[in-house]
Amino acid sequence: MNDRSEAATVVILLQRSLLVILLMAGALLAAPGGEPDTPTLRSVFADDFLIGVALDGRVVGGRNPEAAEIAARQFSSLTAENDMKWMALQPWPGRYRFETADAYVGFAVKHRMKVIGHTLVWHSQTPRWVFETTDGEEIEREELLRRMKEHIETVVGHFKGRVHGWDVVNEAISDGPGGLRDSRWRRIIGDDFIEQAFRFAREADPNAELYYNDYGLVDRRKRARTIDMLKRLIERGAPVDAVGMQGHYSLDRPPAAEVEQAIKDFAALGLKVMITELDVDVLPSRGRVGVADISRRETAHPSLDPYRDGLPEDVQQKLANRYAELFRVFLRHRGHISRVTFWGVDDGHTWLNHFPIRGRTNHPLLIDRNRHPKPAFFAVLKAGQETSPSR
Ligand code: G3I
Repeated sequence: MNDRSEAATVVILLQRSLLVILLMAGALLAAPGGEPDTPTLRSVFADDFLIGVALDGRVVGGRNPEAAEIAARQFSSLTAENDMKWMALQPWPGRYRFETADAYVGFAVKHRMKVIGHTLVWHSQTPRWVFETTDGEEIEREELLRRMKEHIETVVGHFKGRVHGWDVVNEAISDGPGGLRDSRWRRIIGDDFIEQAFRFAREADPNAELYYNDYGLVDRRKRARTIDMLKRLIERGAPVDAVGMQGHYSLDRPPAAEVEQAIKDFAALGLKVMITELDVDVLPSRGRVGVADISRRETAHPSLDPYRDGLPEDVQQKLANRYAELFRVFLRHRGHISRVTFWGVDDGHTWLNHFPIRGRTNHPLLIDRNRHPKPAFFAVLKAGQETSPSR
């Protein structure tokens, strides 16, 4: 190699190193856990609504420090994805386990986040013993009410003053015709199990906000059934403060205009509205590809799992646009919306990798599997900044 080509090689190497340094600096600045002065979701939406995230126990337990750093930096409220459900808190009669849930509260206090308690009364993740005698016979109304009250008093009492609001009743409305879901709560207690749960919760902590939380509330028929139920609760003076629209959406459904109409309809009841479990499923659904018989236990057919190696640019952009349009709707109604919560920190840890088919590679959140912000992250930030350019 002569002197000139050696010099040229050195220049090229220097240029490449510089490029790498610049890219790393850019990634750091853009990284959701990075530079203190870069705008965050938490700072951008500070005057609009709480911006929350659901975490699993590993994060608050210190076993996923990267996700913990992102959560603490980007979000102002926290929901336990599973660890405050009945099954987690009182797996056996009278034997409460608060260690993991206390770790959530500790994490939230440390990072000045508000804790949302999820959830007190639900048909799922509730042990069978709750509804049965030790012989496996179904118990009577009065006994189930007693158990419900005891659980609510103990759990809400334990977190009194530390939990900002509770999902008191989760998913009680039926997906099909009729009003309420045919759960064991309803069958044994009767339709007033919802009202009773709200009253027990208010007694246990008069200062905590109390929520009704459900999915599919944009669907007009389910929305109408939910509004009927909420109206009855309000007429009877049950202490409901807000309604949680879970927000498990897909790239094209439901239309943003319908999401907006649902927010208006619930706000018209005089309730605060929250988007409580937001994610955007990017994978083909069974229906769309015409495969009707795939259950959760089956392995994903490659046609139903097309983004194993990453999200193509055009879908990445669609996801960003979808989030931007949803946030523009939320921001238009920020006077009524008190919180928007994402159902997970990053694409590597989301229930949508396992539902409705196990073992797929979904990409529903703002942060990718390598904990890097996606175009959707910046689209959401931009939507917030457009509303208040000073942020
Ligand atoms: O804890 C066990 C673990 O020991 C075991 O090795 C593993 C094997 O699959 O399962 C683990 O339990 C899983 C649990 O999540 C904790 O990861 C359950 O199988 C799994 O079914 C459970 O799923 C949760 C689901 O609720 C249960 O219905 C999801 O993480 C959670 O995101 C999801 O959240 C619900 C909301 O509470 C209510 N709204 C709908 C939303 C999505 O379904």
